[in-house]
Amino acid sequence: MEYFTTTSKASRRATDCVIIGVYERGKLGVGAADIDAASKGEIRRLIKSGDVSGSLGKTTVLRNVAGVRASRIAVVGLGKASEFGAKQFRRALGAAVAAISATKSKQILNCLTLETRAADPYYLGRASAESVADTLYRFTQMKSARKPAGMPLNKIGLAIAKRGDADRVIRGAEHGDAIGRGMSLAKDLGNLPPNVCTPSYLARTAQKLAKSHAKLTTKILNEAEMKRLGMLSLLSVTAGATEPAKLIVMQYKGAGRDAPVVLVGKGVTFDTGGISLKPGAAMDEMKYDMCGAASVIGTMATVAALKLPINVNVVVPAVVNMPDANATLPGDIVKSMSGLTIEILNTDAEGRLILCDALTYSRRFKPAAIIDVATLTGACVVALGKYYTAVMSHSDELAESILGAGMAAEDRVWRMPIGDEYAQQLKSNFADVANVGGRYGGTCTAGSFLAKFTEGMNWAHLDIAGVAWHSGAKKGSTGRPVPLLTQILLSRCGKLPR
Ligand code: BES
Ligand code: MN
Ligand code: ZN
Repeated sequence: MEYFTTTSKASRRATDCVIIGVYERGKLGVGAADIDAASKGEIRRLIKSGDVSGSLGKTTVLRNVAGVRASRIAVVGLGKASEFGAKQFRRALGAAVAAISATKSKQILNCLTLETRAADPYYLGRASAESVADTLYRFTQMKSARKPAGMPLNKIGLAIAKRGDADRVIRGAEHGDAIGRGMSLAKDLGNLPPNVCTPSYLARTAQKLAKSHAKLTTKILNEAEMKRLGMLSLLSVTAGATEPAKLIVMQYKGAGRDAPVVLVGKGVTFDTGGISLKPGAAMDEMKYDMCGAASVIGTMATVAALKLPINVNVVVPAVVNMPDANATLPGDIVKSMSGLTIEILNTDAEGRLILCDALTYSRRFKPAAIIDVATLTGACVVALGKYYTAVMSHSDELAESILGAGMAAEDRVWRMPIGDEYAQQLKSNFADVANVGGRYGGTCTAGSFLAKFTEGMNWAHLDIAGVAWHSGAKKGSTGRPVPLLTQILLSRCGKLPR
């Protein structure tokens, strides 16, 4: 998508569609006030007649309004003026773009960016681009019907009040557009069925991405190589599968010899539970158990597109968790790459078994920070619902920087505890550690399990079990937490304004 800024008035710009907003109780947004004046009160008349509404997201597309140069006007409700903020901005813009996408508009002008109460210029540009990409995303790869002709919309103007804001708005839009692309890749990988999106498919996707960016390289380790490294915990999860496991290692070099940020993503391309088989209801959703992997690969696409001056490595342990005659049994004890022995009391707690070896492998990069991202526990969905990612870390500084990034990126995060008490729950009579810790505090015992493998590293764990996908009628991948991860990296390499 191409973005530009303009100081021209909503009524004066010749374009396919202008987006303007009206608040509840008849208060007009900046663009709406201008168009109302130019059209001799048309907007106010439509509000009065009930054809246009201020309730948040309600959109009406008008055609050929006298006194206005644009051929269409999308009037969107902004909700209560006193409550209008970044979240409302995104919702309103998303609704308007969804309505416009049903028309043949190629170029549009977004005047909601004039409602500066929502955010500063950078975040208005960024939220615009993210929300457009999110709204226009479609997953049609697996439908047999002839592909719908691509969306004609390809150029979006962002209205600004003063020229001095232009640079910040455009920087925000560039970042938002790249984040949108990373999210689309993450969504595609998540939505693909498990008979297509296998560990090998994830590996090929990473390799393809590396081919198109000079600073990006990818290395794939096969099972024999993992065995030589002693990754027997990881390999225990793939024992029942016929699809071969892969360890995907991507390196982006944008900052010479700096210590990298390492992102580790859980890549279970399907989680049946293994011998500790899951119940059948909604089991199809366990194709989303690779959304951690999808988000770190998607973030890599964003980082490479923005050519960020930072070093980032991605490590994805990719496996299928299956029951089989060869599958791992409850009670089996395996030796992890770190040397710790693990009693596998439940084969459905497989995420931590692949992550611990991926985390140990990552020590070789001497990371400045290491963050793992995983759809790790159902308990996390019980605790936080579908809105917040859980972060766990022994470092207050790292945890707080992640919480801050979540707020700024509107990809929200809540901190959960880890530590000794939880680690106690993981005691095994037979091995160094058990892979499950009982019914209570499932998210925290999982985080505390991983903590045993990250001693001495600047590490945080993100449990995205609740946020990675929508269930029900809107079933589909969300692309989260690509905005959060990108925000963390943008902030670390000084690419955010101010
Ligand atoms: N992938 C699941 C976690 C999950 C379940 C995420 C449902 C989102 C929705 C994970 O591998 C798992 O099965 N965890 C178990 C752990 C338990 C056996 C300690 C769980 O949460 O039930
Ligand atoms: Mn599981
Ligand atoms: Zn799982």
